[in-house]
Parts: sequence; C-alpha cells; structure tokens
Amino acid sequence: MFRIESKIDTTSPEFISNKEKYIELLNKYKKILAEVKKGSSPRAVEKHKERGKLLARERIDMLVDQNTPFLELSTLAAYGTHNNEFPSAGIITGIGVIHGQEALIIANDATVKGGTYMKDTIKKHIRAQDIAFENHLPCVYMVDSGGVFLPDQANVFPDKDGFGRFFFNQARMSAAGIPQIAIVMGSCTAGGAYMPAMSDEVIIVKNQGTIFIGGPPLVKAATGEEVTAEELGGAEVHTVISGVADHFAENDQHAIQICRNIFQTFEKKEKQKLDIAPIEEPFYDPEELYGIAPVDLRKPVDSHEIIARIVDGSKFQEFKARYAPTIVTGFARIMGFPVGIIANNGVIFSETSLKAAHFVELCAARNTPIIFLQNITGFMVGKQYEHGGIARDGAKFVHAVANANVPKFTLVFGGSFGAGNYAMSGRAYEPRLLLMWPSSKISVMGGEQAANVLITVKQDQLRASGKSMTEEEISNLRNEILQKYEFEGSAYFSSSRIWDDGIVDPVDTRKVLAMGIAASLNKPFPPTKYGIFRM
Ligand code: COA
Repeated sequence: MFRIESKIDTTSPEFISNKEKYIELLNKYKKILAEVKKGSSPRAVEKHKERGKLLARERIDMLVDQNTPFLELSTLAAYGTHNNEFPSAGIITGIGVIHGQEALIIANDATVKGGTYMKDTIKKHIRAQDIAFENHLPCVYMVDSGGVFLPDQANVFPDKDGFGRFFFNQARMSAAGIPQIAIVMGSCTAGGAYMPAMSDEVIIVKNQGTIFIGGPPLVKAATGEEVTAEELGGAEVHTVISGVADHFAENDQHAIQICRNIFQTFEKKEKQKLDIAPIEEPFYDPEELYGIAPVDLRKPVDSHEIIARIVDGSKFQEFKARYAPTIVTGFARIMGFPVGIIANNGVIFSETSLKAAHFVELCAARNTPIIFLQNITGFMVGKQYEHGGIARDGAKFVHAVANANVPKFTLVFGGSFGAGNYAMSGRAYEPRLLLMWPSSKISVMGGEQAANVLITVKQDQLRASGKSMTEEEISNLRNEILQKYEFEGSAYFSSSRIWDDGIVDPVDTRKVLAMGIAASLNKPFPPTKYGIFRM
C-alpha cells in the first residue's frame, strides 16, 4: 500500500492557530471529564467508602486484566441535565478484557442517588446491553442500586425501552449463549432484584449485598413484619436458603476474584477470522490532528489528512481516487486490523453516493469492517441535482450501508448534518460504536441553514396575510435559532443524550476504533443480503 503524502505545513500560522484553539477545546473537555468522574458529592463518596465498598470505577479496574485498557462508554451521559446531579447518569459502562475475553461491564454508581435509575441511566444500560448483544460479549452487572429513581417513574417504567427491557435482554442474551454474570455489591431492590435473578451466575457480598422484591419498609407497611435487610435478603439468605445467588463473597475484592474465576470456565468460541497484521504507528504524528481537525466547520478539511494520522503507517489503498472526490474511499489498517474507510470530503452528489455504495459492497464482500469518518453538511440541493435523481442515488448509498452486515464504526470529526448523517452510518444505522471529537457538531442542519429556512417560512406566512417582519425581528429570530442550534448541536449535548457512545480525544481515535473492532470479532460477521436498489 502507498503512503498518503501529507500536504500540511505544520509550521504554518494557520496550523499553529488551529492547534492552539483545538487544545483549548480539548482542555475544556478533559476538565469536564475529570469533574464527572469524581462521581457524586464528596460526602456520598466518603459514606460509600466508610462502608468498606470500592467505587464503581475501582471495581471495574480490579475486574479487568491488569495493564489492559477499559473502554468507558458515554461518560458524559446526562451531562448538563438534572442540575448535574447524575454524573455519568449514575452508571459506568464499557468494554474491558477479563482473562483475555472482551466483556461488557455495567456498574451502578451507588454514590449517585443510591445508584437508582432515571431515564438516561436506563438508556445507557440498554445501550450497553445492545453492544453486548451485537458483539456477543459476556456481561458483568456490578449491582449496587436502589432500583427506579422514583420521581422519574413515568419515564423509566412502562415503555418498551424501560427498566423491564434489562431482563428481556438478559434472557435473550443468555439464550444466545452470551454469559450473564451479576455481582451483588449493594442493593438490588424491587425490579432490580431481577438483575441477579435473571443472570446465569450470581455472586453476592456478605453484609453488603441484598436482593429483595420489597425492602424492609415495604414489608412492614404491607404485613407488619419487622425484618432487617440482611435477614430479608442478604448474602447468607440467598446462598444458603433461597438459592437466588450462587457464590458467597467476603467483600468486593473477593467477589471480583470469583467473577474472574467464572470467566475461566467459559467455552472458547470461534471468532471471526480477519487477516491481522503487526501494528504500525502512523507515519504522521496523530498529535498533528489538533492542527487539522475542524474548529470552524465552515473551513473545508481534506479528509486524507485525517486518515493519514489514524491508520497504520499512514498507508491507504485508495479506491476511485480521481472520481467523485467529495468522498474518500479506500482500504487501510488500524492497529493491524484491515478496514475500509469512507470519509466525507465535501457535499454528497449523485456520483459520490454511487462511489460510496460501490465501496460498501466491496467491504461487505471482503468481510472488512467499515469506518465512516463524518464531516458532512448533507446531499447537494438544487433543480439540477433533483432532476439528476440525487434522491435515487442517495437511496442506494443508504440502502448499501443499512444492509452491510460487516461491523460499522462511525466517527464524527466535523459536522454531522442532514441525510448525510444517515448515509454515513449515523446512530440509526447501528454502527457498533459511534464516537465524536470534542469539536464536532450534530443536528438536522447547520444553525445558519435552519435560521434561513425558518425566517423564509415566517416571512411567507406573514406575506400571505399582508404583513412583514422588521429587520430587528429577523435578526432576533436568527439569533434565537443560531443559539439553539449551537447549544443542541454540540458534542456534549449529543453525548449527554447518549446519541453517541462517547467523545474521544483525536489522538486516541485509532486505539478506540481498534478496541471496537477487536470486540466485534466475538460474533462471526453474518452474510450481507441487499434488497432492491433503486436504479
Ligand atoms: N428513588 C429516588 N431517590 C432515591 C431512591 C429511589 N428509589 N433511593 C434512594 N434515593 C436517593 C435518596 O433520596 C438520596 O438522595 P440525596 O442524595 O439527594 O439525599 C440518595 O438516593 C441516597 O440515598 P440514601 O438512602 O441516603 O443512601 P443509602 O446508601 O443509605 O441507601 C438505598 C441507598 C438505595 C439502599 C436506599 O436509599 C433505599 O433503600 N432506597 C429505596 C429503594 C427502593 O425501595 N426502590 C424501589 C424502586 S423500584
């Protein structure tokens, strides 16, 4: 494969200024991340530790193999909502390696409202289970939760993707041969009792873990019976009397060790075969991405320059380099894994869609995971393009992406606007992971375009009734819309709502993608079958 020849001058004032601005953005992101990772109030953290319990992230560190990374997902879930009283939405999820096996870990953070579940906590838990299901990753539930966050009951209980979905997922995954292990390290109350009960194997910690359908206050109110939590559903009860749990642990550390031992008993499953090569660092320093990554989305970025700093040896086997240059397609390797890359390099035209659809077919036929690098304002508009059938050709691209059954990974490095988001494997297209760079933006269209559309609609309405808007009214409306889109379009807003799986530092991109690809090999890629392409 040939190496991409970078055209970037890293000494240019433009590069240096972009880098400075990007590092500023990155520092803001790192500060927020550190704040969120502190968990709840210092008092709640202290109380938790006084009980001899480890914090959720400490538990995970101890569970995964030493010197292996833990890919934490959606750390900024619920950020900027609920007065920031739910850091990480009160639950830590991610992919880690246990005895050499990738696993999906879900750990309640009991320092956050007793580990209870509000709307975003539920969404994050279910997203983690979806990742486990898609990739056939064994699940470990480190349970320490008071169940439903009762004030939010209307948002968490009754719907398809409510609390009940956890147990449906556990049953389905268990049936698919995906191990479900629960470690009860605190409360499992009411519906939460099913988290261990629905698991294949359950570990419970002495004087700490409890499992009951109704806690002591409820029992007293219902029957008048007075009972302590330990007598009602502690470790002794469930490992000796009820059989709800299988393994008795002295403390958190012991429970985690038992869980690791359980992993040694799993059947070794056939993985998807890929032609994996030795890892090669990119020829161009990934830190140069700070000088290249778009800070101002109006400024075009040559996506070859991004690819050159993500892929092994900066080597890229480009496909149709001379044709439809507003999309860049080609094969490369990331940390030794073969990948197909589809990167935006401008607006999408008919021929761009056809080139990309063709390339998706190549990747699916060659069992090669696809990386989508999004920086897309959308499809080209205008009479000429509509007459040329851009909707028909765009549909081919969307159809190919929707049906390609090789693992897809999406990184938004710039903007993600309009139907381009769909074609480039946005969330609805089930990429195995969807990641954002801190500077990236996502919304149905850019703020400027939305403001123009809404002002035109308003002016047309008023004109019909013989009225008009003053310049000041137009300017106020424009500012209002711009501000709304600026706020709602940010990567933080997206991550808070779990529209993505997390924000990543550009230099970590290749490692995170590689972890995603490694995890995806746990489930052999199913064959791809397309439907009817509109010709
Ligand atoms: N809904 C809403 N808030 C809850 C809650 C619930 N189910 N359970 C606990 N909380 C809140 C508390 O109000 C408190 O909030 P604050 O930090 O704003 O003061 C915080 O979580 C911590 O609760 P606290 O009781 O002080 O902590 P703890 O560690 O001693 O006990 C629990 C945690 C979960 C064991 C205990 O609060 C409890 O048993 N909760 C009720 C559980 C229940 O019956 N759930 C049924 C839901 S289906």
